[in-house]
Amino acid sequence: MTMETIDRVADAARYEVISGGYDDALFAAAAVPPAGRVLDVGCGYGATSRRAARLAARGSVLGNDIAEPLLAQARAFADGEGLANVEFEAGDAQTHPFRHGEFDVAISRFGMMFFRDPVAAFGNVRRALKPGGRLVFTTVGPPGGNDLPSIVAAAMPPAPAGGPPSDVHSLSDPDRIAAVLGAAGFADVRSEPVETSIVLGPDAEAAASFILAWGAFGGALDEAAAGRARAALTGAARPFETPGGVRLRSTAWLVTAV
Ligand SMILES: C[S@@+](CC[C@H](N)C(=O)[O-])C[C@H]1O[C@@H](n2cnc3c(N)ncnc32)[C@H](O)[C@@H]1O
Repeated sequence: MTMETIDRVADAARYEVISGGYDDALFAAAAVPPAGRVLDVGCGYGATSRRAARLAARGSVLGNDIAEPLLAQARAFADGEGLANVEFEAGDAQTHPFRHGEFDVAISRFGMMFFRDPVAAFGNVRRALKPGGRLVFTTVGPPGGNDLPSIVAAAMPPAPAGGPPSDVHSLSDPDRIAAVLGAAGFADVRSEPVETSIVLGPDAEAAASFILAWGAFGGALDEAAAGRARAALTGAARPFETPGGVRLRSTAWLVTAV
């Protein structure tokens, strides 16, 4: 499978399996105003952008992501739901020229953990907010509270040296979150723990298939490598089998700032 042949609808559904359990906490904290202007950073397929657009029925939403193929699918989903108040724009959130002072609230569901220069990225987002505007995002909690990265790591090729941080735990320490956001000009930074569980499938084999089919992971593997990865993933998922399926613990920080 190559990136071009990814079934984007199925891939988007996998993101909901993995991250959808955090939406209620994210949106409770975001308190999107009915006439609000919302920025969704690293929005991927735009599930949270669309939920924000439904809440900001008299306002509007801009979904940002660095990956245009995801945004093309995000636009198709929004069109399919008849949402006219959400737009998607490709750009690197670290440098993208968002209009200054434009947004009431910036949200992100796990889209703010991959920055090479997080202070620059959060500073760029801060400038896009109105004075007093709010930032609300989830970021992956500490490795001990998250089973998914340990399973994925069982089959992951080593990250190339010198590349951008691909570690989902790059922003998992509340002291570091406070330091980064403070340096980027945010105040009143709070990190609150949130926990959910992820059910990857009925058994370890299904869990391995789920992860291999996930665009973020499986797209780059040839057949032999995929076979080795499948075996490693199945073995890594086996200890998490329960009568209710392969159930993984997932913890995150819900971060709010002004
Ligand atoms: C874990 S995914 C989360 C996607 C989406 N928020 C969701 O919850 O389904 C992280 C997203 O961040 C995007 N991303 C990574 N680095 C970025 C950057 N520098 N600027 C904008 N988006 C970025 C990726 O393309 C990806 O879609």
